[in-house]
Amino acid sequence: MSRKILVTSALPYANGAIHLGHLVEYIQTDIWVRFQKMCGHQCLYCCADDTHGTPIMLRAEKEGITPEQLIDRVWHEHKRDFDGFHVDFDNFYSTNSIETRHYSDTLYTRLKEAGLIEIRSIEQFYDPVKEMFLPDRFIKGECPKCHARDQYGDNCEACGAAYQPTDLIEPYSAVSGAKPVKKSSDHHFFKLSDPRCAGFLEGWIAPPHVQAEAANKLKEWLHSGLSDWDISRDAPYFGFEIPNAPGKYYYVWLDAPIGYMGSFQNYCDNHGLNFDEFWKPDSEAELYHFIGKDILYFHALFWPAELAHAGFRTPTGVFCHGFLTVNGTKMSKSRGTFITAESYLNHLNPEWLRYYYAAKLNGSMEDIDLNLEDFAARVNSDLVGKYVNIASRCAGFISKRFGGKLGACDSIATEEFVAAFTNGEIAKSYEERDYGRALREIMRLADVANLYIAEKKPWEMAKQEGREAELHEVCSTALTLFRDLTLYLKPVLPKLAEQVEVFLNIPPLAWTNAWAPLPTGHAINDYQHLMTRIDPKQIEIMVEENKQSLAPPPEPAPARHAEHQQAKAEAAASPWEPFISIDDFTQVDLRVVRIANAEHVEGADKLLKLTLDLGDATRTVFAGIKAAYAPETLVGRLTVMVANLAPRKMKFGLSEGMVLAASDERGGPFLLSPDSGAQPGMRIK
Ligand code: 2FM
Ligand code: ZN
Repeated sequence: MSRKILVTSALPYANGAIHLGHLVEYIQTDIWVRFQKMCGHQCLYCCADDTHGTPIMLRAEKEGITPEQLIDRVWHEHKRDFDGFHVDFDNFYSTNSIETRHYSDTLYTRLKEAGLIEIRSIEQFYDPVKEMFLPDRFIKGECPKCHARDQYGDNCEACGAAYQPTDLIEPYSAVSGAKPVKKSSDHHFFKLSDPRCAGFLEGWIAPPHVQAEAANKLKEWLHSGLSDWDISRDAPYFGFEIPNAPGKYYYVWLDAPIGYMGSFQNYCDNHGLNFDEFWKPDSEAELYHFIGKDILYFHALFWPAELAHAGFRTPTGVFCHGFLTVNGTKMSKSRGTFITAESYLNHLNPEWLRYYYAAKLNGSMEDIDLNLEDFAARVNSDLVGKYVNIASRCAGFISKRFGGKLGACDSIATEEFVAAFTNGEIAKSYEERDYGRALREIMRLADVANLYIAEKKPWEMAKQEGREAELHEVCSTALTLFRDLTLYLKPVLPKLAEQVEVFLNIPPLAWTNAWAPLPTGHAINDYQHLMTRIDPKQIEIMVEENKQSLAPPPEPAPARHAEHQQAKAEAAASPWEPFISIDDFTQVDLRVVRIANAEHVEGADKLLKLTLDLGDATRTVFAGIKAAYAPETLVGRLTVMVANLAPRKMKFGLSEGMVLAASDERGGPFLLSPDSGAQPGMRIK
C-alpha cells in the first residue's frame, strides 16, 4: 500500500556554511527518503534555512548588508552544497517567508485562544550602547564559581557551572563591550507547565514517536517539571512581529519548526497538493523529523505540545541522531578536520562520504566517527574492490564477444540473491534507519558474487575454445547480480546507480514485488569506468588546506546547544568574540615599514620575499601575496608589519615577521598602507 510521508531535516542557520557535521543528518535523511520513493511511496522531503534571530541580525550588520541580503546569499551557498552531496529536497525554502509567518500567527493565535499564552514582565540584561536586550550568550563576565574570566552568561566553559547571566561578576556585553543594565519588559510565554501540556506529553513520549533512549531522557525532563517557554523577543530583532504586540517578535525557535509547515505549504502551492491532508489532526499521512540529539527538547516537547493544542496533527516520529567526530575527536580548525561541504567537494567524491556515513549509521543516538584512514580503506575495499569490480571484470566480454547482448542467467548462482530479496531484510534495515546493517548484508552479497566469478574464472574461459556459452552465462549472471547490488545501494549512491542504469540500459531501479534476472537477449551499453579509489593523498591535501587556508572558510553555523534552556539556542557567539584586553593588544608590536626590496622565490607558488626597512634595521619576510602583487610594484611603498612575531624557519629561508593584508571571499590579499607622514619604524597603537 502506498504511504503518504512528509519528512524534514533540521533547518540550518542562515549564517554559516554547511559542514561535514551537518551532513550526517542530511545524508541520513536523504537516504531514507530515496528508499521510500524507490518503494513507490509518496514521500516528500522539505527543508528551509532557519533565518531569524539575533546572531543573523548582528552578522548582517557586521558585513554591512541587510539580513535579507545575508540570508539570500547563504541560501544559495547551502543549496549548492546540498546539491553537491545529492541531498535531494523536494523543497528547500526559507523561514523568512509568508507561509511561515502565516503558520506562526495561526499557531500563536490558537494557543492564545486556548489560554496557553501568558504575558509576563521579566527583567533582563540590556546593552545601553547598542540599545538592545542581550541573549544569555551575548553577555560575558567572570564565573561566580571558579572566577574564570570571559565566560558566557549561561554556563562556564572552565568549570561547567550553570547559572543565570545576572550571577556573573562584572558582566559585559559581547556586542559592544558595555556594562549591561537590568531592564524589565513584557514577554510572551507558552504555558508548557499547564496540566494539559504535561498530560498530553505523558502519553505522547514513547516509541515509536521517539527512540527508547530519547523517551527516557524526555520523561526525566517531564517529571522534573516543565517550565513555561519564553517565545518572544524585543526589538531590535530579525524575525516576525507578533500580531497586536508592537515591538515584540517571535523568538527564532518558535518559528523554526513552523518553517517545516511553511516549506511544505510552499511545495503544495507549487504542486497542487492539499496541505491539510498532511497536517490535519486525523491525517493518515506520516510526519517524521530527523534531528540531532541537541535539539530533542524543542522537537519532542515544545513542538508536539504546540501542535496538539493548536489543532494540528503531531509528528509520527522524531528520529534523533548523535554528533560527528573526526578521527575520534571534535572537529577542529587547527587540526584541519573542521571541513566544510564546499572544501570536501573540491577534493573528494560526495558518494564516498555518503557510503561511509551510511555504513556507520544504525538508527541510534550514538555519535559517529569519521576516521579518515578507515574512510579511504573502507570505500576502496567495499565500493571499488568488491562492488564495481564485478561489472568491470565481466562487462567487457559481453560487449566484445556477444555484441553487447546478455545470455541466460545461472539460476543456482542467483539463489542467495533471490532469498535476500524475498526475505526483505535489506529493505527492513533501511526502513529502520539501520543503514550499517543494510550495507553489511549488501557487502555479504557482493562477496557471494565475487566468489562466483572467482570460481568460474571467465578470463580463462575466454581463452579456451568451446566455452563461449559458459562465458556468456557467467558474465550475464554476474551482471544480474551487479544490478541487484546497485538496486540495494541506490538510496546511498544515487548518481552511481544512475550511471549503472545507463550502462545496463534499464529503467530506474525501484523496489518491486518480484525478483527477475536481466532477460536473455537484453542489450547493454559499453561499460564506462564507474568509480575511482580514494588516494589518501587527496584527504591529506584537503585537511592541510583546511589548516592553512589564507582566507579561512566562513564561520560555522552557530553551535547547537543543549536541551531545555531555550535561550541557549540563540547561542551563536558574537561575531567579535572572544574579546582581548588592551594588554593583549599591546603585546603585538606593529610597525610601519618601507618595502626596500621584493622578489620572486624560486619554487614557491604563493610567496614573495620582502626586505623590510624599519628605519634602524631590516627584516626579511616571506609573504603569501604573489597572486596579488608584482614584486616591482611594491618596492618603495610603506606598509605594516608585526615586528615581534617569532622568526619562522621556512623551506626558502628564515621569515622574520609578517606583513598585514586584508582578504575574504570578495578578494585580496590587500596590503595595508599608513597615511602620508608615517615613517619606517613608527609603532602602531
Ligand atoms: O539548531 C539548529 O541548527 C536550528 N537551526 C535547527 C532548527 S530545526 C527546526 F526546528 F527548524
Ligand atoms: Zn567557572
